[in-house]
Amino acid sequence: MTALIACSPESEGLLTLELRRMLPDCALKWAADGLVRVESERAFEELARLISGEGARGCVFARQIAPAQAVLPADAPLADVLAAVHAACRQIPGGHRWNIHVRMAGSRGDIETAAEEAAGAAARSRSEPEKLISVAYADACYVGVADASLCLSTWPGGERRFRKEEARISRSEFKLLEAMEAFGLALPRTGTALDLGAAPGGWTRILLEHGLQVTAVDPAGLDARLRDHPRLRHVRATAEQFIPDAAAYAVIVNDMRMSAERSAAVMVSCAGMLQEGGTAVMTLKLPERGVTSRGVLDLTDRCLNLLASAYARVRARQLFHNRSELTVVMEAGSQCA
Ligand SMILES: C[S@@+](CC[C@H](N)C(=O)[O-])C[C@H]1O[C@@H](n2cnc3c(N)ncnc32)[C@H](O)[C@@H]1O
Repeated sequence: MTALIACSPESEGLLTLELRRMLPDCALKWAADGLVRVESERAFEELARLISGEGARGCVFARQIAPAQAVLPADAPLADVLAAVHAACRQIPGGHRWNIHVRMAGSRGDIETAAEEAAGAAARSRSEPEKLISVAYADACYVGVADASLCLSTWPGGERRFRKEEARISRSEFKLLEAMEAFGLALPRTGTALDLGAAPGGWTRILLEHGLQVTAVDPAGLDARLRDHPRLRHVRATAEQFIPDAAAYAVIVNDMRMSAERSAAVMVSCAGMLQEGGTAVMTLKLPERGVTSRGVLDLTDRCLNLLASAYARVRARQLFHNRSELTVVMEAGSQCA
């Protein structure tokens, strides 16, 4: 079975190392920037579950997974590609919502139209497909179809786009919104939240909009639009200064610009403050220069192991809005508040 795994183009080396470690019996090959080809004896379902980390760590740097039931030459005639798309469409049970992602330079209209004719335009759903057809022009032309729930993301290449809102305070907001969606986080509508490294206040704004009472900790100032919010307290201090006096919180978030190991240690010191059933979200900043991919992966392992020593469940992924960082979601264990 052939599959394509999409990642950030900067993280190809990291994804390849992770895949080699997880699937030593598989052949890996560069297919395009940010796209790794996997050849495996395993069924796609098994491969997808391993990579997405059901019940285990998974591949942190994978953004999307797609099977390729047909592998054609990169310059295959359009008629051959359309025949493969038709074959994929025939695997979609009647009435199922479906979508197609076409990765190619130039117009993809012919391919999309052919899929709509074969699978039914009315059942096409860009936001909630049950089946996902993927056509990728890379070192070859790959065509496949799978249950969307196995693909890690229903956005082309895992590139989740958000509409820009007037009220948005910082680009960082997209990271928290994407994390909530990707990890299926249902943040509480009441209770308290702690935002470490809050300035200028994008994550704080989202938590306030959720209805939470927010303590925002950052030596830097918050955006003027937040200043008089009745459910917000801004503590002008570092996280390390604040934590010894802190209370219990339903949600703890941390987007501090700080080395990954230091930031993970801060989150370990916060574990006892997270209420039962509570959720913590953090970004782990990875070194951009001077460290090999192996070194970055070792650092990632050390940080995730450290977090796992303090929290009941730790999940991590590099999401589309992460730049040289990972998003980590933690759930409170019995040792937490
Ligand atoms: C990327 S910004 C956070 C953006 C924020 N999440 C938002 O949505 O607007 C990183 C912040 O971490 C803060 N920071 C760095 N070290 C810190 C520390 N030790 N304690 C608290 N905040 C820290 C910086 O002052 C900076 O405002």
